[in-house]
Amino acid sequence: MPSFIYLDNSATTPVLPEIAATVHKMLTENFGNPSSLHGLGIAAERVLTGARRQVAALINAQPDEIYFTSGGTEANNWAIWGVSRTRRRQGKHIITTAVEHSSLLAACQRLEREGYEVTYLPVDSRGVIRLDDLEAALREDTILVSIMSVNNETGAIEPVAEAARIVHSKSRALFHVDHIQGYGKVALDCRTMGIDLMSLSAHKIHGPKGVGALYIKRGVPLEPLLVGGNQEAGRRAGTENTAGIAAFGLAADLASANMEARVATMRRIKTELAARLLQAIPEARINGPLAEEGAPHILNVSFPGVRAEVLVHMLEEKGIFVSTGSACHSRKQEASHVLKALNLEPWRLEGAIRISLGALNTLDEVEPVVAAVKECVMELWSLTK
Ligand SMILES: Cc1ncc(COP(=O)(O)O)c(C=O)c1O
Repeated sequence: MPSFIYLDNSATTPVLPEIAATVHKMLTENFGNPSSLHGLGIAAERVLTGARRQVAALINAQPDEIYFTSGGTEANNWAIWGVSRTRRRQGKHIITTAVEHSSLLAACQRLEREGYEVTYLPVDSRGVIRLDDLEAALREDTILVSIMSVNNETGAIEPVAEAARIVHSKSRALFHVDHIQGYGKVALDCRTMGIDLMSLSAHKIHGPKGVGALYIKRGVPLEPLLVGGNQEAGRRAGTENTAGIAAFGLAADLASANMEARVATMRRIKTELAARLLQAIPEARINGPLAEEGAPHILNVSFPGVRAEVLVHMLEEKGIFVSTGSACHSRKQEASHVLKALNLEPWRLEGAIRISLGALNTLDEVEPVVAAVKECVMELWSLTK
């Protein structure tokens, strides 16, 4: 049992022991190059085939629609850049949201510098886009719409199924979903929902960092981002990270087998935490969706008169790990673009911490966490009085 409480699972999750064992076995025993013709190569290739099936199953995709990448960032970059190249004769307009992950936004901003036009859909006070805005933004020259399923800072769930329906009925654009925070927590069905491209990442579901996938619907052409060898059906060059991919497959399998129980437990912990925190500190405010809405694992909460980074460090001294906003931004001093898009008062931007749950959290962690947060906040308040 660890001597700390880890509540930063949206940044990354601990690798489960059986998944770590798979990595070890792949590195030391089944270490062949899947492109090799001999037995070790064939054994490694077989592992890739199995992992492709496991990763696909959770989103109801076909195994040959899964292309392994170096993580979610590469998958997002590939989707955005690839569509811009493949469809450049059709148009130069892309629609996304103001609250996407930096890996998606930066890929769009790069295209803007090349003359593409990007519409960033605003969100309401809970962090959710309005479908009317999407419909109004669609144009003849729109080549891609990219909407995340679950926001990594607020846990807001975007209406991707409805958005896909609108996109396909009103335009010829492709529809991409960054499902990195939703995978294994919020069910999406690629076959029935009209999703053309979907980004996934292993380290948010208790797999290792540095491995992910892009789902590309059968028949959707997409310019490769990485060129070289003939790996991944010629669409993504580079010797496969076989250990990481095997681990990703197992992580997806475990997430799938335990999804109902994991989601129910996380939801209980999240609602209990929110209720108890508000009871202990009534001045606190939940940012984004209500605790019982949104994704089951992310709670974003602000405390007046408190700087989030100070609170994060004080909690760390008590053995509790949380984050300020999103991990990718948390070392920057700027307010998060996601919370800004929610139009929150400045104190809520400054004092927001993100508590995010994983498969290893338990209900009995709620009480010590609430007590620690209360103690820290009271201490900070007493210093400013
Ligand atoms: C919503 C979202 N998209 C993309 C990423 C990037 O994924 P990776 O860390 O695998 O590059 C993250 C990681 O924090 C994320 O939360």
